[in-house]
Amino acid sequence: MLRGKKIVLGITGSIAAYKACLIIRGLIKAGAEVQVVITPAGKEFITPITLSALTHKPVISEFFSQRDGTWNSHVDLGLWADAMLIAPCTASTLGKMANGVADNMLITTYLSMKAPVFIAPAMDLDMYAHPSTQANMERLASFGNHFIEAESGFLASGLEGKGRMAEPEHIVAALDEFFEPKDLVGKNILLTAGPTYEKIDPVRFVGNYSSGKMGFALAEECARRGADVTLVAGPVSLKSSHPRIHRVNVESAQEMYNAAVNAFPQMDAAILCAAVADFRPESVAEEKIKRVGQTMDIHLVPNPDIAAELGMMKRSNQKLVGFALETNDEEQNAQNKLEKKNFDFIVLNSLRNEGTCFKSDENQISIISHTGRKDYEKKPKNEVARDIIDELASMK
Ligand code: CTP
Repeated sequence: MLRGKKIVLGITGSIAAYKACLIIRGLIKAGAEVQVVITPAGKEFITPITLSALTHKPVISEFFSQRDGTWNSHVDLGLWADAMLIAPCTASTLGKMANGVADNMLITTYLSMKAPVFIAPAMDLDMYAHPSTQANMERLASFGNHFIEAESGFLASGLEGKGRMAEPEHIVAALDEFFEPKDLVGKNILLTAGPTYEKIDPVRFVGNYSSGKMGFALAEECARRGADVTLVAGPVSLKSSHPRIHRVNVESAQEMYNAAVNAFPQMDAAILCAAVADFRPESVAEEKIKRVGQTMDIHLVPNPDIAAELGMMKRSNQKLVGFALETNDEEQNAQNKLEKKNFDFIVLNSLRNEGTCFKSDENQISIISHTGRKDYEKKPKNEVARDIIDELASMK
């Protein structure tokens, strides 16, 4: 939720300063306004011209504007900002911040800052591990500053990779999450996502084209808003990185059913986004089936309906959300499913909308509930996820 947010970006003298361009691009793309304040050493690594071109604002680095002697007011900046981000932040700047050494515009801005401050340290491992740096970071954290650090590797001392600046998209995501409404704190939400694979023999299966992208976007959105998410995922190549997402990997509809039915009693809501195979081969061949004869029959038997089962288990304080993918009579079919599976609302995708569904990064949905129908524009799946979770959060 960075839309309309005003961010002061402090840049210091680290080789990672070039990555500030990517941070600016990410912040602006998310709808934020960015004002750069750079230290003298920072200017050795990246030029103010590049930065002002990206932010569409003059870069501030001196106490006085060189030409006319006008003040650059750090106090005004401190009041203007919704957040200050210092990225990259060197060991030297950390030390000055921790001790109030106000010898440049960036530190005076920091000392006047009324908004939350985020720090992305950047230095080599020896400097990072030094007790002085560690003490400064502890001190700054105790003042309420937020650190955004690179995920460490898993080698050697546990410090591997430490000190390296976090990736720009990770930094932008951390700020974005900070401004996200935290309306789902304390809620447990179950999600099913992706396709299911129904085995024919050891090397073949019956499956479908679901990529899982919509379900994963929903899981991220719920977690960002404070929920604990249980994500029961069919076979997909997607990663889920949020620490509040607990992922359970399954392959078949039966496995997905077992995981979902087991988790649902502890949940406040379930969102059933998976494209579950309605049928599976009656028996799975133990060995690879050979090509014999001109035709081949696979006898299919029905899979359990996870949605219908959860609909029956549902208590009055639980919510259940389903998806429907229809090619014809969409509204009537969706209405029928709403009743039949005891959903609180159903998200309707129509295959008639080009460039949506399955492998696409965009989706166009309608939400059908007991109180009526809402149609939405075609949007990226993460924005669609926000609309869906807004609807869920608004239900009492
Ligand atoms: N669903 C489920 N378990 C199944 C089948 C479907 O949980 N075995 C869920 C889907 O995740 C989705 C909703 O039910 O949220 C609707 O799925 P869909 O396949 O469209 O519904 P069906 O009842 O299978 O209807 P259809 O007659 O269109 O196949």
